[in-house]
Amino acid sequence: MAWIITKYLLTAGMVVFISEVAKRSDRLGDLFADALIARDPGATLTQVDEARQKAFRGPLLLLATVNLNSELDNIPEQEKIISAGCAIQNVLLMANALGFGSGLSSGKALYSQKMRELFLLKEKEQPLCFITIGTISTHKPNKDRPDANSYTSIF
Ligand SMILES: Cc1cc2nc3c(=O)[nH]c(=O)nc-3n(C[C@H](O)[C@H](O)[C@H](O)COP(=O)(O)O)c2cc1C
Repeated sequence: MAWIITKYLLTAGMVVFISEVAKRSDRLGDLFADALIARDPGATLTQVDEARQKAFRGPLLLLATVNLNSELDNIPEQEKIISAGCAIQNVLLMANALGFGSGLSSGKALYSQKMRELFLLKEKEQPLCFITIGTISTHKPNKDRPDANSYTSIF
């Protein structure tokens, strides 16, 4: 009996959790769409829908943020941002090692007040980028890479 009640509560909790995540994704999708319309009132329905779909590109969408509040530490902002970048790279490598694809995305909506409100960002917290993780269904074509000698020099 106790097991059945526990299982019921776990299932109910999971349903609430998943529907909460879905609601958040809907709100994020609306935010992307609204931000595009605010920037470009002439955006077509297809463009608005594409903007909304950014919230649903992968099964896992994380927002990486950095806390630049220096009241509790004396760490320069540059170091905090670089550390966050290293942590993000580790997340990408971990996803890759587990056989998933991953990618970063940003865009103007990322820096909007509405985004801050949706993710409950505190005053000194800054959004850095979204991290999408999932199974790769299409590949981008390979880019031409510049020769390393064209942007490095040896003294
Ligand atoms: C903070 C950050 C935000 C990014 N945002 C986007 C984005 O919005 N759209 C996109 O196509 N790529 C985005 N990228 C990916 C970069 O444009 C670039 O493709 C990536 O760093 C890999 O470089 P490569 O394409 O030269 O290999 C972002 C990268 C970083 C580090």
